[in-house]
Amino acid sequence: MADKPRNGKVTVVGAGFYGSTTALRLAEYDIFETVVLTDIVEGKPEGLALDMNQSRPIEGFETRVVGIGGGSYEGTENSDVVVITAGLPRKPGMSRMDLIETNAKIVREVAEKVAAASPDAVLIVVSNPLDEMTALAQLASQFPKHRVMGQAGMLDTARFTNFVAEEAGVPISSVRTLTLGSHGDTMVPVPSRCTVDGKPLTEVLAADRIEHLVDRTRNGGAEVVALLKTGSAYFAPSAAAARMARAVMEDSGAVMPVCAWVDGEYGINGVYLGVEAEIGREGVRTVVEGDLSESELAGLRDAAEAVRAKQADIADL
Ligand code: LAC
Repeated sequence: MADKPRNGKVTVVGAGFYGSTTALRLAEYDIFETVVLTDIVEGKPEGLALDMNQSRPIEGFETRVVGIGGGSYEGTENSDVVVITAGLPRKPGMSRMDLIETNAKIVREVAEKVAAASPDAVLIVVSNPLDEMTALAQLASQFPKHRVMGQAGMLDTARFTNFVAEEAGVPISSVRTLTLGSHGDTMVPVPSRCTVDGKPLTEVLAADRIEHLVDRTRNGGAEVVALLKTGSAYFAPSAAAARMARAVMEDSGAVMPVCAWVDGEYGINGVYLGVEAEIGREGVRTVVEGDLSESELAGLRDAAEAVRAKQADIADL
């Protein structure tokens, strides 16, 4: 439908598997005027963009994908949303935290350049370690904190939902789950918000099976890395990042688990943390405080302290 309104420009920085898959998902939504894909490598984003554009007659979308290589930001100016995927992925056996020094240098430089080219953009960070790189992107961009968020909770929640649906033998659509906290060891599952066909998860699966699935979710990224051997997951991660960018562009007010600046909510002050947030054109409209059990709240506060300690170090990286 060529007459459908398409607005705005979204830039995806980094044309690896995560970035290119995100760009394609965004283009296939057919709501943006332009999707820009950039990379330091020359030719790769241009080639991928050409290839994606050639899929338009078959998939039936009009959004144009523009590839910009060589680390240039010319052509990304005044993007409405910028998804930062730049940085190295894990290798088997690595934790996300092992990437902190290398990726900090990359994310800092990217965030500075993005901020200069697109001073009004909303930033969505997906580089790892996620919570720290989100905090760093805010620091480097000097953007208001609500305009910088990280993608993790959508992904962890999707993984948990998938595992529960398979274990319970029910459709994905019957399952609701929620994870908060950090994208890592201190991920906090929220059993009180997990249901199968509206029934509490604890009535559907045995406690030890739930614990197993929580563990598998917490290690969900590493499980994929171990199988792939090179690179990390990108189909589910890109689906999550693209949905966040879409919620921003459509000013939808969708409530999603994201890595957002928390200052006061849940009695937690001044830290980027995985929480539910209402997403709109300005980025995070508001952090949504759900009802948590005592132990869930304690888990969230512990996660906040764990990431706070790491986030305090990022200014020096
Ligand atoms: C994962 C990476 C992308 O969890 O953080 O797969």
